Amino acid sequence: MSTALGLCGSLRRDSFNRKLLAEAGRLYGGLEEADLRLPLYDGDLEAAEGLPAGVETLARQIADAPAVLIACPEYNKAPPGVLKNALDWISRAPGRVLDGKPVAIMSATAGRAGGERTLAALRLWLVPFGAAVLTGPDVLVGQASGQFDGAGRLTNEINLKALTTLMEKLKTGS
Ligand SMILES: Cc1cc2nc3c(=O)[nH]c(=O)nc-3n(C[C@H](O)[C@H](O)[C@H](O)COP(=O)(O)O)c2cc1C
Repeated sequence: MSTALGLCGSLRRDSFNRKLLAEAGRLYGGLEEADLRLPLYDGDLEAAEGLPAGVETLARQIADAPAVLIACPEYNKAPPGVLKNALDWISRAPGRVLDGKPVAIMSATAGRAGGERTLAALRLWLVPFGAAVLTGPDVLVGQASGQFDGAGRLTNEINLKALTTLMEKLKTGS
């Protein structure tokens, strides 16, 4: 199966991270995007109703995917709560679905640094899950509004090369 599962840390319709995810999926060979519009984690909700249907779907999608791509913006020098909330729910699903799962992370931001601190934080967030997070290259798309053409393609050679290498590593497991 060559379709990776994409998690976008931005819910915004015209998100640059969603564009980045689409580019990554094109280079990987296929992408299905997960829906991260989940309720906020609430232990009382979980105790009363169990896992929300959206969380069960997400856990199943992760378990079935050969690889997971995560693209997330930087909010105040850190990854956004949308992603943390999804990960917290996933940690409550049976089966440790991210354990050993190949994961590639990337970030597109308005700032020049392209979310470097966000990727560092995201690596730490993923430690408890045992995910096989690729160590690099870092895909950091800074000043994102000028980095995609009308067809959603990355215009900067350096970004495109880094993403191409990252996706090759994800596909080959090297
Ligand atoms: C609450 C908030 C905090 C932000 N903090 C940062 C930041 O720390 N660094 C940065 O480069 N951009 C920051 N931005 C700008 C985002 O990088 C920019 O809005 C980006 O386009 C969001 O990603 P998206 O296009 O995928 O939604 C922030 C935006 C918001 C809404």
